[in-house]
Amino acid sequence: MTSIVVFASGVGSNFRAICEAIREKKLAARVEALVCNLPGAGAPSVAKEFGIRCFEIPERTPDRKWLRAEHEGLILGALSEIRFDWIVLAGYMRLLSSGFVKRFTDAERGCARIVNIHPSLLPAFSGVAGYAQALHYGAKVTGVTVHLVGDGLDDGPIVAQRAIEIRDDDTIETLMERGLAVEHGLYVETLGKLFAGAWRIEGAEHARRPRIVFGAEVARG
Ligand code: GRF
Repeated sequence: MTSIVVFASGVGSNFRAICEAIREKKLAARVEALVCNLPGAGAPSVAKEFGIRCFEIPERTPDRKWLRAEHEGLILGALSEIRFDWIVLAGYMRLLSSGFVKRFTDAERGCARIVNIHPSLLPAFSGVAGYAQALHYGAKVTGVTVHLVGDGLDDGPIVAQRAIEIRDDDTIETLMERGLAVEHGLYVETLGKLFAGAWRIEGAEHARRPRIVFGAEVARG
């Protein structure tokens, strides 16, 4: 059984989708803990509802904002108490430092065991508010990307993508609503495939962007 820690900063609807999928035995995993960096976020109440340990580690106090390294040090301190296989970012709105990402690198796979979901078809519309960016740009199609976390912003090998049509009468709200529904399904499905382990990274050695290849043959290779 794959053990995971989820990082979230927001409402926690992706976190909820993961917890529900586990409860309904659609995803073979166990959530060991939630890490939440923003006071007032909804995710901790989801953790409470599902009986999951929650580390609320705010990145700022009324007087100061923790530097990235200081904040990550606090997170690492909390996580040192538990064992887990993967970090699953579910709306975690703070960039992780390359030092942090390196700590979770799986040398055999050649990537970090950290996975993220982003609300656009990367590499388009990286950064915050992916749905709003696509809508304001006038794009006709956007989507959702699940990717492994690399060094840069919304960087790292793409694991899965799903397109979403942008309708002429879409508002940010309607697009986000359809997008989040796609995210929940795609994230659960993709985490299941990742945790099953029949994949590898290839291409990095050819000066091409590394990519993920799935399949039983890969598992034997
Ligand atoms: C999602 O759109 C996710 O793709 C993005 O932040 C949002 C988080 O939503 N990174 P929720 O907190 O999971 O509801």
